[in-house]
Amino acid sequence: MFADRVLSGMRPTGSLHLGHYHGVLKNWVEMQHEFECLFFVADWHALTTHYDNPHMIEQSTWDMVIDWLAAGVDPARATLFIQSKVPEHAELHLLLSMITPLGWLERVPTYKDQQEKLSEKDLSTYGFLGYPLLQSADILIYRATQVPVGEDQVPHIEFTREIARRFNHIYGREIGFEEKAEAAVKKLGGKKAKLYSELRTRYQEQGDDEALESAKSLLDEQQSLSLGDRERLFGYLEGGGKMILSEPQAMLTAASKMPGLDGQKMSKSYNNTISLREDEATVSKKIRTMPTDPARVRRTDAGNPAHCPVWQLHQVYSNEATKAWAEQGCKNAGIGCIECKQPVIDAVLAEQNPMRERAQQYLDDPTLVRNIIADGCEKARKLAGETMRDVREAMGLSYS
Ligand code: TRP
Ligand code: SF4
Repeated sequence: MFADRVLSGMRPTGSLHLGHYHGVLKNWVEMQHEFECLFFVADWHALTTHYDNPHMIEQSTWDMVIDWLAAGVDPARATLFIQSKVPEHAELHLLLSMITPLGWLERVPTYKDQQEKLSEKDLSTYGFLGYPLLQSADILIYRATQVPVGEDQVPHIEFTREIARRFNHIYGREIGFEEKAEAAVKKLGGKKAKLYSELRTRYQEQGDDEALESAKSLLDEQQSLSLGDRERLFGYLEGGGKMILSEPQAMLTAASKMPGLDGQKMSKSYNNTISLREDEATVSKKIRTMPTDPARVRRTDAGNPAHCPVWQLHQVYSNEATKAWAEQGCKNAGIGCIECKQPVIDAVLAEQNPMRERAQQYLDDPTLVRNIIADGCEKARKLAGETMRDVREAMGLSYS
């Protein structure tokens, strides 16, 4: 019932590297051409695990926004903002907490996983338990339809869907809902009203998903319905009440296969990263000193690319001809490792050049970034405010 809207957030916990670029940011940059996009800095989420070191969050926030802009996220297309500057997220989090069963939170797999993984930190806090619910508030407050996330976050989206359903179930029933919904059906006009009712029955009695989809597209085509009637008819279709919060879909971003400098997945914790805007000299040096196939002790020793992390970078950065050249040259000792690395160095630098360039203007004039974020926060607050009005009303809080 709502037009597609993409929302995603990132925790500001350190500088971004090429793994983030290939795994997430490239995807954001593509999506901004297809959808309405909102991207935000999840600084409150960072506080749930970094509550004892809050000062790094501020610096990471600005660095991260510059990284996004450097990667090509375009503030003219996407709305960029900071979670804590839209306090409505906290209000929705609080209100949703009233109806969130503790067991649902305890069962979210990341809860126990992260506590174990970050065992040096005390994460038996209220805030950390509520992490997925805060994320639900982030998503539901914008009525986002699509949430690009990695595999590990899918349970959070599933959880969000359940919260939305529960909210709609508890608060979505206006007095006289059934009557109003039937009246709205009539307004569709004879033939369409009949079709809607048939499809609804087919879905509700036989669980026919196709019928559900057809009914939804039927409603999508109805231009003349009032917003209230539309919501009613969508809600009536699925058996619940009025849909106040809409259920988002996870949009799985293919897991980044970006290899790090040692052949393992690129990750801060493996200390094998190239940061997004790393200076050229350091990038060259990092790649030049990468380990290679240990069999190639001397230049004249033949090697096997399958045993070499540089070869994995060729997979990301080189065309077929270059790959064939490297593979041949390695196997018959026709080229040395330094030679083999050069096209990779060139390709990484070429990829980063526009990023370094774009970043420079923001580093030179930090007010540019501040203004982009101030703009984005204002837009976000407006959208969030609209949802909150409906939520407060549904929860009996719109008195003055
Ligand atoms: N939990 C997400 C992560 O760790 C970050 C996040 C917070 C988020 N709120 C969100 C992602 C809302 C998508 C939508 O990556
Ligand atoms: Fe690796 Fe290339 Fe050296 Fe072979 S020639 S070991 S692929 S760097």
